Amino acid sequence: MPQDVYNKLMMLAKRRGFIYPSFEIYGGVAGFYDYGPLGSQLKHNIETIWRQFYLLKDSCVEIHTPTITLYEVLKASGHVEEFTDLTVECNKCKHAFKVEDLVKAGVSAEEAVQNGDVSCPDCGTTFTEAHPVNLMFSTYIGIGTGRPAFLRPETAQGIFTNFHLLYRYCREKLPFGVIQVGKGFRNEISPRQGTLRQREFAMAEAEVFFDPENKNHRNFPDVKDKILYLFDNEKEMKLSLKDAVDQGVINNQALAYYMYLTQDFLLTVGINPKKFRFRKHGGDELAHYARECWDAELLSERFGWVECVGIADRSAYDLTAHIDASHVDMYALRKFPTPKEITVKKVLPNMGKLGPLFKRKAGAIQKALEAMTTVPKHPLILTIDGQKISVPSECYEVVETIEKQVGERFVPHVIEPSYGIDRIIYFVLEHSFEEIQKKDEEYRVLHLDPRVAPLKVGVFPLISDERLVEQAMDIDRLLRDALLTTFYDEGGTIGRRYARMDEVGTPLCVTVDHQSLEDLTVTVRDRDSTEQDRVPVDTLIAYLKKRLG
Ligand code: GAP
Repeated sequence: MPQDVYNKLMMLAKRRGFIYPSFEIYGGVAGFYDYGPLGSQLKHNIETIWRQFYLLKDSCVEIHTPTITLYEVLKASGHVEEFTDLTVECNKCKHAFKVEDLVKAGVSAEEAVQNGDVSCPDCGTTFTEAHPVNLMFSTYIGIGTGRPAFLRPETAQGIFTNFHLLYRYCREKLPFGVIQVGKGFRNEISPRQGTLRQREFAMAEAEVFFDPENKNHRNFPDVKDKILYLFDNEKEMKLSLKDAVDQGVINNQALAYYMYLTQDFLLTVGINPKKFRFRKHGGDELAHYARECWDAELLSERFGWVECVGIADRSAYDLTAHIDASHVDMYALRKFPTPKEITVKKVLPNMGKLGPLFKRKAGAIQKALEAMTTVPKHPLILTIDGQKISVPSECYEVVETIEKQVGERFVPHVIEPSYGIDRIIYFVLEHSFEEIQKKDEEYRVLHLDPRVAPLKVGVFPLISDERLVEQAMDIDRLLRDALLTTFYDEGGTIGRRYARMDEVGTPLCVTVDHQSLEDLTVTVRDRDSTEQDRVPVDTLIAYLKKRLG
């Protein structure tokens, strides 16, 4: 059977130390992959460029939070109820499938099963019922009756639960963005797409907090005339950011700006612009938290268009949910031009009544009452530690006071660009892969951008003559001291050594030959053109750094 690009690439990736199936000596398990030495370096380079985009081009700040996340957080965020895939299980062969994977795009999964249109891809049995399965891995913190928890399905919640602290850190000014790069975990039903669908995968997410009355972005004017590649599920469009916002194709400046930042990032790391588009989510596809979402989709020879980045307007969904569940003040302040005197109604807890009635829970109830911004309805039901509690009206008093207010409180909105790093790594490899038929063998080249290439320079002596070897090793050391990642190789013909470097995407190779011993010059060979320059050793570092960008 002829091999497709995916097969060829995965064979190369394993043989040359990019990607290995995890736990292979024990038979492996679907949805888990390791990065080998070159894959790890490629991942590191892509994440470094991602950070440059979000920390420097956009002025976000970075945090790290635990991957194990308390039940309460994911209950409040809606993941416990909503983070599910509609699943079918085959009675005959016992295999389980996500219904979405078995129906054509645009067809309702529920209806397809009800109509008997979905059958087992392994044994042909028709499925008659489907049920939602939660995708989170659950665990307990501590032994015995430990606290229930999950491995986080997204890094975002770690940012939301710190909002009040980050707001203070960012001088209480909106907008500000917070990024997190780390693992996400999903117990995918039947992962069959290699590194594109894993059960533990690398995410890079930004949560950008906005005043809902002003979803403009300070960098928008600089990029407003740049062109976005858009697809609204019917037609492809090339629109400037400004036109897309003015025509209502994209809801606001901030969303359009982060779409552009995403496009710029993906093209920078080596995605083929002809295999890139933004696709708008239809109403029935939106995640439980999203109001509008655009996916950056990349085209794969085997898998078709695949979502690699989701850019969602999460509105006030998450912060509102965490305010309601934790009763912590996660509001922001919109300042008035001049302070105003306003009559406000406040809820004053009566601890004399709350204490004896609710004992240990009285403190939490007090906090919840003080945080209320509207006059409570009777009967007042509060949720404390997941338990619904009815609070009698004699436990609090509603008082009217005149207050000088410097501004009004509101729940910030969130725009979220969310990147799947492993998918991007796969597409950087697929889009840069070329196989050339040379006489009786296939010659493979990864045309990686020098900034993402795991190795920057191959260093060789032309032949294994002691004097050439010594000079080549000195040059290798010199380049490493200048922070260039090199690969020294003296094994096999020079043609084989170039081929080995081309196959892993090393942009340049330096060769020491007999002339080098006489005039201290070396050849520098370019991976893509195979052209060679003769360069003096004393200007070699500057020359290479210029070529590598
Ligand atoms: N916080 C938003 C969020 O989690 P998502 O669309 O579910 O959104 C974000 O995930 C990105 O993570 C996706 O665009 C995709 O690139 C990547 N991703 C999601 N599930 C994945 C999986 N099972 N394996 C690898 N990458 C995945």
